[in-house]
Amino acid sequence: MNEKKRILTGDRTTGKLHLGHYVGSLQSRVKLQDEYDTFILLADIQALTTHFEKPELIKESIYEVAIDNLSVGLDPNKITMLLQSKITAIAELTVFYSMVVSVNSLRHNPTIKTEAKQYGYDDLSYGFLGYPVSQAADITFCNADLVPGGDDQVPHIEVARKIVRRINDLYGTNINEPEIMLSSCPRLMGLDGNAKMGKSLNNAIYLSDSDEEVNKKVSQALTDKNRISIKDKGNPDICVVSKYHQIFNSDDYDNICEMCRNASVGCVACKKQLSKSLNGLLAPFREKRAYYEAHKNLVRDIIEEGSKKANIEGNKTVEALKKAMSLSL
Ligand code: TRP
Repeated sequence: MNEKKRILTGDRTTGKLHLGHYVGSLQSRVKLQDEYDTFILLADIQALTTHFEKPELIKESIYEVAIDNLSVGLDPNKITMLLQSKITAIAELTVFYSMVVSVNSLRHNPTIKTEAKQYGYDDLSYGFLGYPVSQAADITFCNADLVPGGDDQVPHIEVARKIVRRINDLYGTNINEPEIMLSSCPRLMGLDGNAKMGKSLNNAIYLSDSDEEVNKKVSQALTDKNRISIKDKGNPDICVVSKYHQIFNSDDYDNICEMCRNASVGCVACKKQLSKSLNGLLAPFREKRAYYEAHKNLVRDIIEEGSKKANIEGNKTVEALKKAMSLSL
């Protein structure tokens, strides 16, 4: 008997994950895995919405994203890790759900709008515009109760809830109306001061970065531009390094700001302190990563097994829905 509530969340397989993903999502996944029945989705179909011309990248990223998740401490014996394209129920539910979603509501989805702008799309593909519908299928095939995610996911959960209500209403089914579980951590800004850390912005520290890469990237991070010499007093409010200290050195944060303000520490030393903390955080991840990278077959088995389990769940959901929708002889 399983009385734990179920959560489902995941990542598009469009490249390796970075510290922003860790702070915003992976960290809480690790904490939640004991209390919740946790499903981690490798969203390779959603990856196609923007990267359909780069199938090799998607394939490579499936392993990268899986290993990123495992390296930070998700335990394959506790969680279910699944590959979206292997779950036939997701494809089927997407089609059924698409009947009850209006195109206008998708067009007005703020996350879709932001992403369309980011990718420079004006004439959106059907698949891109409709990915929130597919995401509703991701969440409901296994009847997930909660979806951990950032505020960009809120509109998508709203779409899912609306679909579920409509389907349950129309066909008398009993699909869970999922709820979002918002991340409590503020978004991690890029090393260049950009509000978002991202691969395409070239301002990210990856979970797979080495000590040297972290040191180099932190040494180039944006600080208070007005602080030219070590004797100048700094302003941590406009310094990216300070924002990182706030998250990764929270216990020492007030002290770090004070030392910057009265010029008792220079930017170089302050950055070194940050690199040290980041490398301290990443060290155990690197060890686990090395293990999984040397045992790729094991990673494949974890995904295969999780997908098999997910398919059993998904097929039950689809069978019940098809029956309720009179899609049967
Ligand atoms: N949209 C998520 C992202 O941007 C990935 C994702 C796909 C997802 N399906 C999901 C997240 C279902 C939560 C639930 O990375």
